[in-house]
Amino acid sequence: MRIVFGIALALLTLPACGETLVERGAYLVGSVMACHNCHTPRGPQGLDLSRALSGGSQVFDEPAFKVTGSNITPDKDTGIGNWSDAELKRFLVSGIRPNGTKVAPIMPTAFYTVLTGRDLDALTAYLRSVPSVRHETRAPEYKIALKSEVPTYAGKQASEQELSDQLARGRYLLTIAHCLECHTPEGPSAVHDFAAASGKGGRTFRGPWGESVSSNITPDRAFGLGQWSDDEIKRAITQGIARDGHKLKPPMAYAAYASMTAQDLDAIVAFLRTLPPR
Ligand code: HEC
Ligand code: HEC
Repeated sequence: MRIVFGIALALLTLPACGETLVERGAYLVGSVMACHNCHTPRGPQGLDLSRALSGGSQVFDEPAFKVTGSNITPDKDTGIGNWSDAELKRFLVSGIRPNGTKVAPIMPTAFYTVLTGRDLDALTAYLRSVPSVRHETRAPEYKIALKSEVPTYAGKQASEQELSDQLARGRYLLTIAHCLECHTPEGPSAVHDFAAASGKGGRTFRGPWGESVSSNITPDRAFGLGQWSDDEIKRAITQGIARDGHKLKPPMAYAAYASMTAQDLDAIVAFLRTLPPR
């Protein structure tokens, strides 16, 4: 009896374990980590997935740099087809390209330092599997020396075992989704004020949508999400609808987050409740 039960259980859990690396990578890229938001060109209908990951349309013009999301398809001339798997993994957690140059921090590699070994394998496997697209993107301009940052909850690789705990999973997902990159204001030295204001919001984003200012996503009852229900928070993340029903503006990747699993979304919301209120 116990053996039969054991086999039944093994079969039931098979689909989750059977997820291939490429499938896991597709999920991370397309959903939680929202790579398309910066790396896929936009047409009049929004993201042009027929040229997925061949370089973003948006130019990030900041005091320190002027860059655009690179072509990360396996094209050898204009993409990352010449990078080895090891080089790509090292880049994702350090921001250092195979040629030794450092990427602008708008590419959230400082947050990707937590990526588990399996998720690094998954991202690599998936990026190798997407169609090559030949598309030259504009060369990056670096105006002043780039400062490195260690964002809240980042800096140390997570383990697969940790991810079975809901809060640890939520912390991991919140980090690789780089929520706190946009939701933390800059301090006096023009780097994020992670120490005193993580999650407090107040960053301004300009683009075709005009201007948007990131919100306070800490559990503060007056300024943050303290009075929001779980469903209201989930609706904001996945549908871009504020508590009072108005439509939220870009650049938050609502459409990508909409395909997050229920388990992952629950974990993020549970973890948001534990941020220090600001
Ligand atoms: C917030 C925007 C943003 C997100 C999200 C983002 N990137 Fe980037 N990424 C960039 C920008 C901008 C650059 C180029 C910066 C530069 O040239 O200094 C870049 C550079 C890169 C490069 C280096 C390519 C080269 O030719 O030098 C790789 C690889 C890369 N990103 C992969 C990814 C992957 C994989 C994801 C998702 C897991 C991702 N990026 C998410 C903005 C982003
Ligand atoms: C690329 C920047 C960016 C990223 C990444 C980002 N957000 Fe946002 N988010 C914003 C901006 C800007 C707004 C405000 C939009 C507006 O007011 O129209 C916002 C709004 C919100 C809101 C609505 C709050 C309110 O008071 O209306 C919630 C909740 C939220 N974000 C949570 C998250 C979570 C959780 C993540 C990570 C999974 C995340 N955000 C990632 C930029 C970002």
